[in-house]
Amino acid sequence: MNHTLILLAALLLAPLAETAAAVSSSIHPGQSWLDTDGVLINAHGFCTLRHGDKYYWYGSHKIAGKTESENNEAGVRCYVSRDLLNWENAGMVLSKTAQGMSPEVADAGILDRPKVIYIPATGRFVMYFKLYGPMTPEGKLNTKEAYVGVATATQPTGPFAYQGKFLGGGSETGSGDFAIFQDADGVAYHIAVRKPDKGRKDKPLVCGRLSDDGLKPAGEYVAMEGVENATEAPALFRHAGKYYLLGSGSSGWAPNAARMFVADHLTGPYQSLGNPCRGMNPHNQLGPEKTFGGQSTFVFPVPGRRGTFIAMFDINNPEDPVHSGYIWLPLEFSTNQPAIRWRSEWNLSVFEEK
Ligand code: DGJ
Repeated sequence: MNHTLILLAALLLAPLAETAAAVSSSIHPGQSWLDTDGVLINAHGFCTLRHGDKYYWYGSHKIAGKTESENNEAGVRCYVSRDLLNWENAGMVLSKTAQGMSPEVADAGILDRPKVIYIPATGRFVMYFKLYGPMTPEGKLNTKEAYVGVATATQPTGPFAYQGKFLGGGSETGSGDFAIFQDADGVAYHIAVRKPDKGRKDKPLVCGRLSDDGLKPAGEYVAMEGVENATEAPALFRHAGKYYLLGSGSSGWAPNAARMFVADHLTGPYQSLGNPCRGMNPHNQLGPEKTFGGQSTFVFPVPGRRGTFIAMFDINNPEDPVHSGYIWLPLEFSTNQPAIRWRSEWNLSVFEEK
């Protein structure tokens, strides 16, 4: 055997192997998702956005070694892609440690579930996130008042400048998990779980219109009739003239069964469609009863493909959040009944299947 030849062949093929490993042609739900540098994607409670010919993935950057009971987010990280499969790290677009950052962000105990929209009228990208106060002197998360933080940018990759916070939901204690839904006319709505306050113990999902610049609520919130109490992790989308809502139950970081609702109007009344999940995640043996081990975070209408949606979930890992995972699955409609079937590997060509 000619060792020099083998060595030469190995040297020549090595760069090819590296490129081949970095380029992905499919999505592998529930498995480690690496960016184009081969590093684990760190963007949780996330959303995606299409702008121009690129896609943007925004999520909370979790700090390695910290649990979800600690101040464990460094801010919001963004990744950019041209195909929804291969994601390049675009850096921290909102950093708690940025020079001159407001203490409301810098000292926040929770900075979670970021959602970003583009408002054509102002030419601004607006980012919303769950924003809680600083940790208590005893080192506990301060969940008394749950704010929505707002930041804006002129470019999708930021930097996003903090604009302030509001107590959403029409409650004195604010709101929890939320979705930002931009309707066909461009108007944005804040859909959130209202926190209990004086005299009100329930946790309804409520909807409030945002101001034209998207920076604050424009008026009262209304309860979304027909949506089960304490529905968390809401994700809204519109299909064939109807409004669909995907959400979870309320069990902290532990997975529970997904739930779905449909209505003719954004504020309802909604009708339950039950749990849209089908099949089983072979990596953890969890099926619809636990949403494959995930919790909804966003539903992305695939641009240019009318009626096609990607259902997006986090796999929470409260003891080691930096290793929390992601599940992306096609959301399929047959006779207007939505279904989210487990697939271990898929790409956008599934939307062409009959
Ligand atoms: C429920 C939410 O849906 C999760 O994303 C997370 O914020 C947990 N609460 C924390 O307990």
